[in-house]
Amino acid sequence: MNSLKTYIRNNDPELLRSLRNFKKKIINPIVVFFSDINLNIRFFFRGRKGFSSVPCLVPFMRLEFQKFGNVSACCTAFTKVKSVGNMKSQTIEQIWNGKKLRRFRKQLLLGQTCKVCMPNCGYLKIGPIFLKDICTDTPEGESLYNDVSHGRVKLNSHPLRFNLANFTVCNLTCVMCQSRAVEAQNNSIPEHVTKTLKNLSNYFDKKITLYLSGNGEVLARKDTRELLQNFDSKKNSKVDFQIITNGLLFQPRMWETIKHNNFTYVNISIDAATKETYKKVRRGGNWEQLMKALEVFKKAREEGKFSSVNINMTVMKSNFKEIPQFVEMARANGFNSLFTRIRGPFEDENIFESNNEKDIQELKKVLSNPNLYGEDVDMNDIRDYVPKEFHKIMGNHLTSIWYPSFLLKMPEKG
Ligand SMILES: C[S@@+](CC[C@H](N)C(=O)[O-])C[C@H]1O[C@@H](n2cnc3c(N)ncnc32)[C@H](O)[C@@H]1O
Ligand code: SF4
Repeated sequence: MNSLKTYIRNNDPELLRSLRNFKKKIINPIVVFFSDINLNIRFFFRGRKGFSSVPCLVPFMRLEFQKFGNVSACCTAFTKVKSVGNMKSQTIEQIWNGKKLRRFRKQLLLGQTCKVCMPNCGYLKIGPIFLKDICTDTPEGESLYNDVSHGRVKLNSHPLRFNLANFTVCNLTCVMCQSRAVEAQNNSIPEHVTKTLKNLSNYFDKKITLYLSGNGEVLARKDTRELLQNFDSKKNSKVDFQIITNGLLFQPRMWETIKHNNFTYVNISIDAATKETYKKVRRGGNWEQLMKALEVFKKAREEGKFSSVNINMTVMKSNFKEIPQFVEMARANGFNSLFTRIRGPFEDENIFESNNEKDIQELKKVLSNPNLYGEDVDMNDIRDYVPKEFHKIMGNHLTSIWYPSFLLKMPEKG
């Protein structure tokens, strides 16, 4: 079979194109049709017993706007369903209860995570979400509870979180960044981004979180910078902002123009505890400028402008030995620290996928230091390398951001 494919590929590109078209237009829809029937039958019988838990709630509460107008229900590193719609041709409302997202939810309710989730998904690591843990004393929690417990995949609830990862303009070119700022030189706002923001404004009277941003840099992007500067936080008082940033542009004058907003959480990605490592990993960054920005965050936190300030290290070969220093740096400023493993094909840096046992052993040694642990430190997805006795005393800042406390009583740490 393979040699036939190779033969056709090498000798008859026209035939190859027709076969691909046939597969895309005829075979794939037939497969989807029959697997939908199968899914619906199983869902019908399972649903009659009622649902008491779901492996993950994300596709029931969140939308993520990606590059080129694509929309996903979850972080694309965590899910196999890379797109549930596109803002170029659809609206948020059409996507939220559209066929693709309804199917995704159905598969989750049936526990078929292997079909829709990546095995290393951080949400799955939290463990199943029991419906009894949803806080029904908020209207948002009650609505979500009603939808999930009734096995609804067409939801009455609206999205509660929107991640604006749809424009990759950035001021840095970090060594491990996959969202590499292809549009860095071109800061004119794409049409789908403008359309998304306009559609999003329909939700500004609701309790929603705007999460800026999973791609690019929030203050280097013209759209998100202007959103923050022009946002009417008095009129839209239920909206809160969570920010993930390299921090550099949060300088005093800029901060004055955006500080009127209701920020809850900020994550500052630093990836180093020394100037040398910072320069190597955060290419284009400036350590002194970063230190000035940290002062802005520190003061803002002391004034109660953020409920939580985290500094983040994407753990890789160049920086893992600096983990203890990083925790100290966070503590000296009154911040939490968060550690997340590097993902993707960065052979030199990705110690988790390069099968280099020596680096992993060294990492385990670094992580065996008891001084590292406390509520202020979240080892997130490198916790597999942390001795078990420290798991109970670690914080879980990231997961409490993913599932805010007004919505969910956090599952036990383990
Ligand atoms: C893509 S950045 C966008 C937001 C902002 N520019 C920043 O640097 O925080 C979002 C987060 O992804 C992390 N990140 C970048 N490349 C990564 C990779 N290959 N694996 C895991 N995390 C990565 C960054 O360190 C950062 O914390
Ligand atoms: S600052 Fe963030 S978006 Fe920009 S290159 Fe670095 S990790 Fe990527």
